[in-house]
This record gives sequence, structure tokens and C-alpha cells, in this order.
Amino acid sequence: MTWKLVATCPEESKLILAQEVEKLGAVVEKQGYRAVYFSVSTLEAFYRMHVQITTASHLFWILKECAAKNDRMLFSQVQRIKWRELFAPTRSFRVDAHVSDSTEWTPVSLSTRTRQAIQEHFTFHQLPVPPTDVEEPDVIISVWMQKGRATISLRTSGETLHKRGYRLPGHTAPLKETVAATLLHVLQFDGSTPLYDPMCGSGTIVIEAAMMALGKACLIHRKKDGFAFEKLLNFDRHLWRQVQEDLREGKKQELPYPIYASDKEEDFVELAKKTALRARVERYLTCFPADFFSTTAPCESGLMVSNLPYGDRLQAEGGLESFYEKIGDHLKKAYKGWKVAFLVGADSPWKSIGLKPQKKVPLVNGSIPVLLLIYDIF
Ligand SMILES: C[S@@+](CC[C@H](N)C(=O)[O-])C[C@H]1O[C@@H](n2cnc3c(N)ncnc32)[C@H](O)[C@@H]1O
Repeated sequence: MTWKLVATCPEESKLILAQEVEKLGAVVEKQGYRAVYFSVSTLEAFYRMHVQITTASHLFWILKECAAKNDRMLFSQVQRIKWRELFAPTRSFRVDAHVSDSTEWTPVSLSTRTRQAIQEHFTFHQLPVPPTDVEEPDVIISVWMQKGRATISLRTSGETLHKRGYRLPGHTAPLKETVAATLLHVLQFDGSTPLYDPMCGSGTIVIEAAMMALGKACLIHRKKDGFAFEKLLNFDRHLWRQVQEDLREGKKQELPYPIYASDKEEDFVELAKKTALRARVERYLTCFPADFFSTTAPCESGLMVSNLPYGDRLQAEGGLESFYEKIGDHLKKAYKGWKVAFLVGADSPWKSIGLKPQKKVPLVNGSIPVLLLIYDIF
């Protein structure tokens, strides 16, 4: 059987996502707006993709792509999907609708008609009608409508995939896990060089880096029923356990090169350590409190990756310009031979760093446009 899937992400990181999907062994079929369409040929590969993918926001299993020019066509196409074999009538469901290029449909009319067609399917087969639940449904059905064609799918990832299951509260500006992973993919980080985040906050970058370098599945700590595919009738619990066990056994036991993390706030260093413990990578990280401007390079050369601070406090302390200027000066003094990658706001005064980036990669963090600046420090 072929499983047709679509992974979503911000438009800016689509290429990186497509490369990752391919690296994980799937066949990429096409790219769409904020989406990569691909296929896998076994249920095992389907499960592996869900637990290993680092840069996707969601994964959907495509059930049908069809013409649906009008209400009647859509209703009949949706009703003919074998919903009763996909989920039990005891499961609650919701329909999310996305409309582009259509005068026929609005998101509300599309989701209403799709929901009614699904309910009609159960009634026709003399089964109870599954309840709808807008807030916390067991099953999320997605309909995309574009140019008279509907793509009907199940959101098998469940909660958004940046929720790895290790995050703790306590930092005001944590980086999204999927963005941290995207940076590391852009930098082609595979653990074959030391890595250092000197402004680590809650430690997202170094935790994602450790998992990547170990070949550890980033979503392995999601709790039971954390993926929506676990609520479907075709769920194979035995195979799912086997996949998880194989992935745990397949991960490396040691890192070839060290990973360091520091922050000038001791509380954040403690938070990073506790978060790393939840992600079970604490023993691979060296975390310590330090003001960046008094750090020395922890080894001769390596990769520095950090998302730079911004905000009111720095403004009050003399402004971002002078903070960024000092960063550039300290890099020149203490980090010769290092590759440095900083994530900064696109409209921040990053030019004050005073070094010419070898590369600038536009990305988004949440909805904020950001730049990944990559420097070689000579
Ligand atoms: C945007 S946050 C980093 C967030 C982090 N990537 C995460 O996922 O939680 C920037 C961090 O830089 C730290 N910071 C600010 N000035 C610093 C300095 N001079 N030296 C070291 N850390 C500093 C702040 O304490 C803050 O935790």
C-alpha cells in the first residue's frame, strides 16, 4: 500500500523540509504552498516519519484528491470515503477547511458540508453518528479546496509537531523546536563538529542538536495517544511499539564531539538542564552560566549557533546596536576559526555586528520574519 502524505511548514523552510523528508526515506512528489507532498510504502515507514521528522508543523494522510466543483460533487465524494473503516463512531471529530481560489466555497460552508457528508456516511451504514468536538476532537479531518479540486485528509500528527514533549515553562522567548531544527539542517549539522550556544535560554537549540547528532527520534517522548493516528481503526499498536523500540536501540550511545550551552542568567541554565533531562539528553550537554562577553572558546574551532536576544531590557541597557557591536568585537577576539550562525529579527540592527555574513537565510519564527546569518570568523 502507498501512503500519500503531506507535511506542512512555513513557506520559507519548505526546501529544508523536502530535503529532510527525502533523507528519511520517503519519495517527494511535489511542493505546494507551505507544504511538501510525499509518499511512503509501508505502515512502518508512516510511523517512523511521524516520530522522526524535525522540521514539519503537521503531517496529514491524504485520503482523496478529487474534483469538487459544486456542493453535490463534494458531498458525494466525501460520503464515499470509507469513514466507518477509518474511525469508530465513538470518536469525536472536527473538520478544518482551507479555501484558496474559489468563489463557490467559504471555509465555513466547506467544513459544514464535509461534516454533513461524513455524518451521512455513518447514518447510511446504520451506525451511530460520531460526535463533533471543535476544541479537542479525537480525529481532525482537513479539506483543502483549490481550483475546484478538493484534497481530503486526516491530520495524523495530532498536536503540532513542535510540541516534542520535553518543553518546560520558564523562559519568555523560547525558540520553536521546529525552527531550531531547521537552523541545524540549514547548517548541515550532524554532530561531526563541536557546537556551542552561548545564549541558550531554555536550551532548545542544543537539545535539538544533541538529538540530531545521536540520531534520536525527536518525538519519541510524546505521551501515549499523542499522535492522532493512534486513534484510528487501522492503528497497529504492536508495530508502533516495535518502531519505537527499534529507534531507541538504533540511536548512538555517545557523541563524537561535545555540545556546550551557556547563558548569563543562572535560572535559564538550570531550566536548560532540566529540559534536557526531560528530553533524556542531559548527559551529552555541558551547561554553565556565563556572560558571553567574558567567554573564551571552549575548543579550538566549532559551530556557534544562537538566537540573539532582543527587546526592551537591552534597549534600556544602551540599545541593541551597541549590544550587537560588542558581539562582533568579542567574536573577532575570542572565536577565530569558528563558524557562527545567529538568528536575528529581519528588522533588527544586525548590521551593527560589523562582520560580513557569508550567507543570509530568511526564515520565520512563529510569524516573525527572521534571518539566519552565517559567518566564518577569521
Ligand atoms: C532569545 S533568548 C534565547 C532563547 C533560546 N534559544 C531558547 O530556545 O530558549 C536570548 C537569551 O540570551 C541571554 N543573554 C542576553 N544577554 C546575554 C549575555 N550578555 N551573555 C549570555 N547570555 C545572554 C538571555 O538571558 C536569553 O536567555
